[in-house]
Amino acid sequence: MSVQGDRRKTQYLNENGLGVKMPVETISWKNGKIRYIDQTLLPHKVKFVDCSSIKKLWTAIKRLEIRGAPAIGIAGALGVALVAVKSKANTPKALLKEVRKCVKYLASSRPTAVNLFWALARMERRARSNDSLPAQDLKNLLVAEATEIIDEDKASCRAMARHGAKLIKNYDVILTHCNAGGLATADYGTALGVLFEAKREGKRIKVYVDETRPLLQGARLTAWELLNEGIDTTLICDNMAASLMAKGIIDKIFVGADRVAFNGDVANKIGTYSLAVLAKYHKVPFYVVAPLSTFDFNIKTGREIPIEERSADEVRCVFGKRVAPRNVKVYNPAFDVTPAPLITAIITEKGIFQPTRLELVNKTDEIKRRR
Ligand code: MRU
Repeated sequence: MSVQGDRRKTQYLNENGLGVKMPVETISWKNGKIRYIDQTLLPHKVKFVDCSSIKKLWTAIKRLEIRGAPAIGIAGALGVALVAVKSKANTPKALLKEVRKCVKYLASSRPTAVNLFWALARMERRARSNDSLPAQDLKNLLVAEATEIIDEDKASCRAMARHGAKLIKNYDVILTHCNAGGLATADYGTALGVLFEAKREGKRIKVYVDETRPLLQGARLTAWELLNEGIDTTLICDNMAASLMAKGIIDKIFVGADRVAFNGDVANKIGTYSLAVLAKYHKVPFYVVAPLSTFDFNIKTGREIPIEERSADEVRCVFGKRVAPRNVKVYNPAFDVTPAPLITAIITEKGIFQPTRLELVNKTDEIKRRR
């Protein structure tokens, strides 16, 4: 959809949520502000929010208005750019101090998706290594770096989609979990990008979508994206996946990732691990699609990945309505870790890799620079 200036920033959708041109511009830099789609309102409304406050950005990440590993990373980078353009600092040293404060603050929003820390570290490095420039030049440089991260994300979405689509055959029936689509990235998505590309290549596919309790990213976001792309989509409750696999209905599973450890273990939305166990038992190939910005080679195994635990009311309630006794204890981890041996392959922008042979991933400048 197009947004005309700042006047038309909300599009109310019909009850199917259809009629939106994909991919949507989930997060971008517009007129010195961060423009993002508030994903908590989907699939009822596409509302673009213009954000010019770091506190508001922190809350938007925490509340999942902006969500999905690559999109959170982009939000972090744009947050640093925002601090830079708003800063009154007239020396690079003073600016660097503000950048560092912002990096520390945004890093406290969500712990699991490594893209956030990757992007914040990259922005801080950029500032530090150019601290002899006049303050205004350094500000411009930080905006340029953040928009470059967006461009790189777009390019890697397309590359992952091309590599991954080779794994899909005509008439494949695919299962996905959570949302690894355009809403989680700057462009085409990771796991969903592969499906969009397969469709564009003329393959006829069917997709089953786990609703993804507690926050229903599958039902609210993935089903919405797939339908708007014209893909044959069926929504299921998370506990129905086993019965589909037992009936031999699912050919392949594609999911995204929030952090990939050096040994190939993958953190992704809670429920991913159980799908991978089911897939192994039923001999269904299980693919993870993730850009290199989601790889954390400083972490040896998935056991070291910090797993976010969220509020009890996300489980006790559904859309603000309590569905359980008020005082019942709740366990609410937002992610789980799938061990590498359960993963058939990891699709990156550099190609397709065996999860247990990640040392073969071409160590790009990105990965080296992160160390
Ligand atoms: O809590 P969320 O909605 O941010 O979790 C998102 C996921 O788990 C996605 O699968 C992951 O970030 C990959 S997105 C390309």
